[in-house]
Amino acid sequence: MPYDTRQYAAISDVITDLNPGEPVYCIYPRLLHNDVRQFVSGFPGRVMYAVKANPDPRIVEHVLTAGVRDVDAASIEEMELVHAIDPTVRCYFMAPVRLRGAVERAYTAHHVRDYVVDHHDELRRVAAELPQQDVTVFVRMATDNPDATYNLSEKFGASHADTVALLREVASLGFEPALAFNTGSLVRRPGAYVDALKHCQKVLEEAGVAVRQVDVGGGFPSDYPGMQSEPWESFFKAIDETRQSLPLLRNVELHAEPGRALIANGMSLLTQVLHRAGNRLFINDGVWGSMVEPMLSKGELRYPSRAFRGTTPVTGADQNYEVFGPTCDSMDRLPAPLPLPCDLAAGDWIEFGTMGAYSLSNRTHFNGFFPDNFVEIVGDTSAPPSIG
Ligand SMILES: Cc1ncc(COP(=O)(O)O)c(C=O)c1O
Repeated sequence: MPYDTRQYAAISDVITDLNPGEPVYCIYPRLLHNDVRQFVSGFPGRVMYAVKANPDPRIVEHVLTAGVRDVDAASIEEMELVHAIDPTVRCYFMAPVRLRGAVERAYTAHHVRDYVVDHHDELRRVAAELPQQDVTVFVRMATDNPDATYNLSEKFGASHADTVALLREVASLGFEPALAFNTGSLVRRPGAYVDALKHCQKVLEEAGVAVRQVDVGGGFPSDYPGMQSEPWESFFKAIDETRQSLPLLRNVELHAEPGRALIANGMSLLTQVLHRAGNRLFINDGVWGSMVEPMLSKGELRYPSRAFRGTTPVTGADQNYEVFGPTCDSMDRLPAPLPLPCDLAAGDWIEFGTMGAYSLSNRTHFNGFFPDNFVEIVGDTSAPPSIG
């Protein structure tokens, strides 16, 4: 393992050994590998890991060794990070608006042959910077999915008419045309993928362009308290059956760009209570550190948790706490109450589960706090807090 990450059998051993005053990211490799393997073996196509969900090199390395060979990268930095771990991984440049020069650098330095566009201007920039013969250009189509926790089509994705026109233009420029969509992030039911695939059929009929690849994007769910989703198998079955039922999609190769689904469960966060005032808890991490998602989702997304005093679990009846992070502003507050045992005090530890996705990728240095400690929990029966 290239990163000096201490391994422990259980979370209690981390507390005993480190007595950690700073937050600690706890990677559970067994869980991480199981989730990646389950996704890769169940999805009816190729799986690219969306690096943005968790770009920590330790996590990326686990995802790769568990069986992923493709990644969805949004920047040259993400490609460098992945290729420093394994130069044979295939990077797809799936951000529809890029920094100047990034397309050419991706092509020459990272051998990227797959690019996404959702606008004619970006297509022309790609065409100006790249040879056409060995490049696939995915046209990203907007999808309508009010059900997603985050609607990615508010920012990217071409309209129906633009998708048709872009596909024709991609083909006429001599690129290999392909289609892509993103139904959102944290999509809890498969219907959005079914609708989007049916939309692809209509777009292809109208464009009169044949494609060999369709990328169904990310969005596959992980379970959080109060936010349970249909199992991945239902998504995979619905996607496969829909594809088989559509004449212009029946023989395409599918891709998916999961981020959250692969890595959410396999990492927890060990925090410490700094101060308690009644039902107000002040802990050493918050929304400017690892917990921006509760704020972005307006309190809908919460994490399962458990508390320790020393190495002993704190038990007994729960009460709801208002939880604040360590920075000086009042925004640094979890929007939803956190149920934990009544008997909590400064110095106790709280382990939050399902912390793998969009936690450390969104950390800031605000007020000088930057969680950056990692351990691995490798005991056969050790598991982080979960809603199960
Ligand atoms: C283009 C693209 N692909 C994939 C993802 C990953 O989404 P998720 O983590 O919900 O699977 C995102 C998330 O923002 C995205 O923008």
